[in-house]
This record gives sequence, structure tokens and C-alpha cells, in this order.
Amino acid sequence: MVKVTIDGNEVEVGEGATVLESLRSLDIKVPTLCYHPALRPSGSCKLCAVEVKSSLGRSSLLLSCVLKVKEGLIISTQGEAIQRARAKAFKDLIQMAPHAISIRRLAEEHGVDLGPPPDGCIRCRLCIRVCKEIVGAGALKMEKREGKNFVAPLAGLCIGCGTCTNVCPTDAIRMEEKDGVRTILIRDEIIGRHILEKCEACGKLFATEKFLRHVRGRVGPHPDVKEHHLYCPTCAKLFSDRIKASSKLKRI
Ligand code: SF4
Ligand code: FES
Repeated sequence: MVKVTIDGNEVEVGEGATVLESLRSLDIKVPTLCYHPALRPSGSCKLCAVEVKSSLGRSSLLLSCVLKVKEGLIISTQGEAIQRARAKAFKDLIQMAPHAISIRRLAEEHGVDLGPPPDGCIRCRLCIRVCKEIVGAGALKMEKREGKNFVAPLAGLCIGCGTCTNVCPTDAIRMEEKDGVRTILIRDEIIGRHILEKCEACGKLFATEKFLRHVRGRVGPHPDVKEHHLYCPTCAKLFSDRIKASSKLKRI
């Protein structure tokens, strides 16, 4: 056995053990991800760093999974420098595995805030701008959540046109269509859910009622077009081409 000091307490630990093994035997928790008791330590995750004081009083941060215990070692598992090193190690790891729940859970247990998982949005605001400035619905906004900006829906304002989905450069906004219902989402938040209307000529489900009403309110009637028609863009084009052709014939 060798005598060491851990977090201010003098204890006896097994000779030849690593600091991490000794800490574990005393039920002192330090985070680890690359440690496995059946394998030789590799020191790759860098999470298990502890502060070690030499006999000359110099402190250094060392990986506890690799370091062997020695008589008289003074070890600290808590403190500002350790917390900074852990936070850096956690941040480096989460960059490589942004959706790893195990890393997020462990970081939280050890007081490191990794922020929310990435949602694929680069905060370019194209969706917000197009919805407000071109479509005129204003159904999206930037919202602060725990100090960070998120694209969020403004309840009830989505008209289901899908322009935000088309303009989003990273596909962070999705449009799903199932059983005649169109849903527009970001993360798991619903921006809008709408029943699709059928084209009265070809029967294809093509637009939402709210969108068609919105368009009617923004464009004037056309002399050649039957008002309030429910034609999909393909059929509408086909009919308008026919109208144009027959009016040309009449003129001849
Ligand atoms: S959701 Fe897409 S379009 Fe909107 S801000 Fe994020 S990346 Fe840009
Ligand atoms: S446990 Fe990963 S570096 Fe020590």
C-alpha cells in the first residue's frame, strides 16, 4: 500500500494501481470515456485529468487513467483548472459526436454546460425574411432560449406554403406530407400543419387552404381566369395556354 493525499484526505491505496483505479476504489468520481478496465489506458478522451502536486510544490494536470500512484502524491480532483480542462475536453469530444447523449449526460453530471445539440440551423434568417418580406405571413421569428438564438414559429401564422423549406440552405426546416396533411417543422417543433386542397381538374393535392386564401387576398382577378378556381399550377397553366390559343384564333 502507498499513502497519498486525495482532495485533502490522506488515504492508503494499492501499490501499482493507477490514480483513476485508486479514485474509483474510493468512490471518487472523475469522468472517463476512453477508459475500459480490460484494456490498457490510451489517454485519448482527456476527461480524467486531475491536479497533481509534486514534492517541490509544483502543480500539473495529469491524466489519472495513465498516472500510477506513488507514495506522497497530492491529488486534487476538483478545482478551477481541472474544471477548465474537463470543459475543454468535453467540448472537443462533442464536436466529434454532436448527438452523443452519453457525452452530454456525463458533462452535465460534472457541471459542464455543452449547450443544446445542434439543430442544423446556421442562423442565416433566410426563412424568417422570406416568410415576412416575400410571402407576407411572418410566421417565423428568432427566439432566445437559454441565451442562444433559435428559429421558432409564431403560433397560428403559418400558411403552409413551404417557402421556408425551399429557401433553407441546410434543410433544417422540413416539410412532410402524409394522408393529405402537410406539416412544416424545425427540430421537433411544428411550424404549421395543414390539410391539402385537391386540384379540381386533375385531383392532385397541391396547396393548403390558408395559402390559397392568402394568394387570393394579394392578387387581383384576371379577366380570363375563372375566379376562386382550385387548379394546381400545372392545370392552371394548361387552361391559361388554351385560353390564350383560342383568343388568338378568334382574332385571326
Ligand atoms: S432554419 Fe434554415 S433558413 Fe432558417 S435560419 Fe436556419 S438555416 Fe437559415
Ligand atoms: S479516461 Fe480517457 S484520457 Fe483518461
